[in-house]
Amino acid sequence: MINIAVLGYGTVGSGVVEVINTNQKHINKRAGKEINVKYVLDLREFPGDPVEKILVHDYSTILNDDDVKVVVEVMGGVEPANTFVRQALEKGKSVCTSNKELVAKHGAELLEIAKKNNVNFLFEASVGGGIPIIRPINQSLTVDHIDEISGILNGTTNYILTKMADEGLAFDTVLKQAQEMGYAERNPEADVCGYDACRKIAILTSLVYGKQVDYEDIYTEGITEITERDFVYAKAMNTSIKLLGRSINIDGTVYAMVAPFVIGADHCLIGVNGVYNGILLHGDMLDNVMFYGRGAGKLPTASAVVSDVVDAVKHRHTNIMTIWSKEKKVLGDINEFACGYFVRVKGAVSKDELEKVFGEVELVTVEDITDETAFLIKSMKEADFNEKIKSFELVNRIRTSLN
Ligand code: HSE
Repeated sequence: MINIAVLGYGTVGSGVVEVINTNQKHINKRAGKEINVKYVLDLREFPGDPVEKILVHDYSTILNDDDVKVVVEVMGGVEPANTFVRQALEKGKSVCTSNKELVAKHGAELLEIAKKNNVNFLFEASVGGGIPIIRPINQSLTVDHIDEISGILNGTTNYILTKMADEGLAFDTVLKQAQEMGYAERNPEADVCGYDACRKIAILTSLVYGKQVDYEDIYTEGITEITERDFVYAKAMNTSIKLLGRSINIDGTVYAMVAPFVIGADHCLIGVNGVYNGILLHGDMLDNVMFYGRGAGKLPTASAVVSDVVDAVKHRHTNIMTIWSKEKKVLGDINEFACGYFVRVKGAVSKDELEKVFGEVELVTVEDITDETAFLIKSMKEADFNEKIKSFELVNRIRTSLN
């Protein structure tokens, strides 16, 4: 029997207990040992809940119990999670976490501590919720140079954008509905401003290049400026608008960003709607490979966490090699990154006038919209665009990924 402890009895923590109880026999068979939840740590009481008898409030009970071999950290936030995880690894306990803030900030160091102590630090659920993506990158996609990651990495914003697209509603209206239905947090900033997706693309990029990508270095734009009118144009162009986390290697320089993109009907991620996530990787040998599924939610996320517990049990005295060193990966300057743009400027501006400034453009016209001019630019560096747009009154600009 292997004893584990769960730190945090919130949505994911209670999901972990539920997954283990529901699929007990199956999970034990896969792990080769019976998995027993010995403790649940939470500050709160849960009278009447099955975990009442195993609930503890003091972490030292878990840390100092040598019978606990695996710690599941699902508290969220950097501290005290970081301290608890470090202490567990140093005590020879493996740790499985869903905590993307922790992994993005301290992943490399925690992997190093795990290696030193011949245990494992596993974080499958930190990106893409229930979608297997960390293990495939580490263990399956070991041959290719991955030169592009493009992912819909946040369920809340994908739900909002899908609703805006389908129902022609304003951002604020959909956000309010999403909050009422529990799909969006009361404080939605981390999701709608792109910070959550930023941590996730930082983790994926770090794993792909084996070095520390600091999330603070990633250009991040959320979806708060996307309007109903943008979707009217998107529909007219047979496209949609998605918040993408991207990292792209261009001739050895890696550019990483989170921003809304206009994507075409033939883009692999176009069918990823609602709360679903999709992650598209491109390898130099493999070509495209895509991962799709529920990027959030109690049971899908818990399923990924418990899959790590099974892995930790199977590799009790072996460190699973994960290449992610503390050495900083310097990212390319976003101003040097070239992409396409969908642009709206105030007033009626002729194609000639636009082309004098931007070079070739394609006008996008929609019946009944006469107070502005919309157009597409095929490819231009960010810095050049930012300079050239000064000659016009910008309404909105959305990057495109149409080819
Ligand atoms: N708030 C996140 C999302 C949860 O909406 O995707 C999963 O990380």
